[in-house]
Amino acid sequence: MEEFRICVFASGSGTNAEKIIQYFQNRKTAAVVLVITNKPDAQVIERARLLHVPCEVFSKNDLADTQKVDDVLHLHKITHIVLAGFLLQVPTRLIRLFPGRIINIHPSLLPKFGGKGMYGIKVHEAVKAAGETETGITIHEVNEHYDEGKIIFQANCPVLPTDAPDQIANNVQQLEHTHFAREVEKWVMRHPVGTD
Ligand code: GAR
Repeated sequence: MEEFRICVFASGSGTNAEKIIQYFQNRKTAAVVLVITNKPDAQVIERARLLHVPCEVFSKNDLADTQKVDDVLHLHKITHIVLAGFLLQVPTRLIRLFPGRIINIHPSLLPKFGGKGMYGIKVHEAVKAAGETETGITIHEVNEHYDEGKIIFQANCPVLPTDAPDQIANNVQQLEHTHFAREVEKWVMRHPVGTD
């Protein structure tokens, strides 16, 4: 059994979840052993199934007000949580259960274009509207405030005057797929259980 057992939380398509699962299927450092989603129709469910990773669906209420998620994380001996397009706020209860061992990816250069309601294409539309000449990705620790935890990694890409939000989204997704899994691995190795 791997020393590090990752659970990926995702609400939507799950392309990042898929990349991270595939990356660790070829590594011995850690494994993605569980996916959690809050959307019963999220595409990530099928992606996880095809890669033979169990996926559990929990409602917003389950997450916020019950122990169900905690119990399933315990059952799977999860050591680290990675949010990959997870759109609900992580409750303080879980942050305390995994101190310093939850990270998130955000599709902009935080602190710019972060906060509640800023996700997916909305972020790229705001980048475009603000006339930014560059954007990128931020990987950060999760705390009680949306997009405000300690920044672990950033990478950037240019925004050309001709780039529509869709194009910006494609460029940012490329950055995510290039960097996220590798940065998760480095972060996990730096944050073994019991050192926080
Ligand atoms: C990613 O671009 C991720 O950065 C973003 O959701 C997308 C999920 O894509 N997260 C946020 O906006 C969080 N505020 P995916 O489902 O294809 O991995």
